Amino acid sequence: MARLPIIIAPDPRLARKAAAVERVDAEVRRLMDDMLETMYAAPGVGLAAPQVGVLKRVIVVDVGPKDQPQPHRMANPEILWVSDEDASFNEGCLSLPEHYADVVRPRAVKVCYLDQDNEIRELQAEGLLAICIQHEIDHLDGVLFVDHVSALKRNMILRKLVKAKKQGAFETV
Ligand code: NI
Repeated sequence: MARLPIIIAPDPRLARKAAAVERVDAEVRRLMDDMLETMYAAPGVGLAAPQVGVLKRVIVVDVGPKDQPQPHRMANPEILWVSDEDASFNEGCLSLPEHYADVVRPRAVKVCYLDQDNEIRELQAEGLLAICIQHEIDHLDGVLFVDHVSALKRNMILRKLVKAKKQGAFETV
């Protein structure tokens, strides 16, 4: 496994739509494992392939306790159902380090995807896992959590990131 460099916003590579994976083969499996290693090292609870410069519909998520990892490896994740009830969560993102904002999303979702063995799976998720899955799927469509908040808040965060990048705050690519 290998740690991959994470792209920091604002960056046009984070605004593109990722392409579906044809099948989960050894290459995609390795990408999933590398993404998990990168996510755990950061540390974070979710990561999408576009954040490491790969425009494929692949995400990894783990909201389990540190000593009990519960990794989810998902290719072509699709939301099949969302709850009527919403939840607000103070979200962050490895591509927008040290910035957080309250985002409102459906509290629960049902998602289908291909797992690491190319098997079709369905998962019903709620709470943090549901939030995280929606946040990562957004990345596959070029959407960041700041796109869900006011333009004022979004621009403030992005301006600070531009400044931090100029000052060499991140190991960026
Ligand atoms: Ni993110």
